[in-house]
Amino acid sequence: MTARPKIVDAGLRAKILSEALPYIRAFNGKTIVIKYGGSAQVASDLKEGFAQDIVLLKYVGIRPVIVHGGGEQVSDMMEKLGKDPKFVDGLRVTDPETMEVVEMVLGGRLNKEIVARINKHGGSAVGLTGKDGRLMQAVKKKPKRLVDVEGREKLVDLGLVGDIEKIDSRILEILLANDFIPVVAPVGVTADGVSLNVNADTAAGSIAAALRAARLIYLTDVPGLLKDEKDDDSLISTVRLSEVDDLREAGVISGGMIPKIESVTQAIYTGVEKAHFIDGRVPRSLLLELFTDEGIGTEIIQS
Ligand SMILES: Nc1ncnc2c1ncn2[C@@H]1O[C@H](COP(=O)(O)OP(=O)(O)OP(=O)(O)O)[C@@H](O)[C@H]1O
Ligand SMILES: [Mg+2]
Repeated sequence: MTARPKIVDAGLRAKILSEALPYIRAFNGKTIVIKYGGSAQVASDLKEGFAQDIVLLKYVGIRPVIVHGGGEQVSDMMEKLGKDPKFVDGLRVTDPETMEVVEMVLGGRLNKEIVARINKHGGSAVGLTGKDGRLMQAVKKKPKRLVDVEGREKLVDLGLVGDIEKIDSRILEILLANDFIPVVAPVGVTADGVSLNVNADTAAGSIAAALRAARLIYLTDVPGLLKDEKDDDSLISTVRLSEVDDLREAGVISGGMIPKIESVTQAIYTGVEKAHFIDGRVPRSLLLELFTDEGIGTEIIQS
């Protein structure tokens, strides 16, 4: 027999549950797009917790859509296969061989691993890449223009990397209307059927915009947007879109945060209500953000 929780525990638990009610009511029937960052997919208990949280969201009437990253997992597989990553002038180049690995790892193993975990906990997840139902139509990125110290210009072709041109969200709508949980790998497709590596942050933002999602959530490996990247205590709790330019100029937004903030800006302009950056390394961070008064991480709002 398990011991009954102490009254103080029971009171606290009951309070937390009842605090969730207004949020559950507000999100009922709403679509929430979650970018599941590769760097948040580390320990297996966290992965299990993530899958359980997604199933819980579904059971309380939310329509979750997952878009996952996985750059690290692609690099690991490249290493296993003895393939060196290709860089030209410091920029990663996706050659056809690399793209094959990207598609195998992201669209195959990793995507199905997430699907299987969700299903194990009682959800009905379906894995897709941008090829399925022509979900993510992309065009090859233009060569990147570099200028050397002597002012000479050079164009570097990044290879099979794409910009999303159009989202056809019909396949997602069909799945959502039938209670499936879509899990999308960031692989786009050209009009000619060529696979292109697309940025998962951008994919999540474009999908959230196409679905007019209520929330766009980035699960990553930092507590949120930090004033000082090296100081976890420097969390910025709320960012208004009008503040983004200043933050960029001040150098606060850099590296992996750039595609996130750009996608969020675009998504909010297109009708997504709000976005969040939260720490995927914190167990249950998704539930804390969505269902408690305090929330965690950084929220990005229009004004
Ligand atoms: N102001 C900032 N606050 C917090 N993190 C920042 C900031 N500026 C840059 N970063 C970097 O952004 C990183 C998060 O983006 P990153 O691309 O590494 O992960 P991800 O997008 O969650 O995962 P993946 O790219 O695998 O899908 C952080 O680990 C941090 O190094
Ligand atoms: Mg990233």
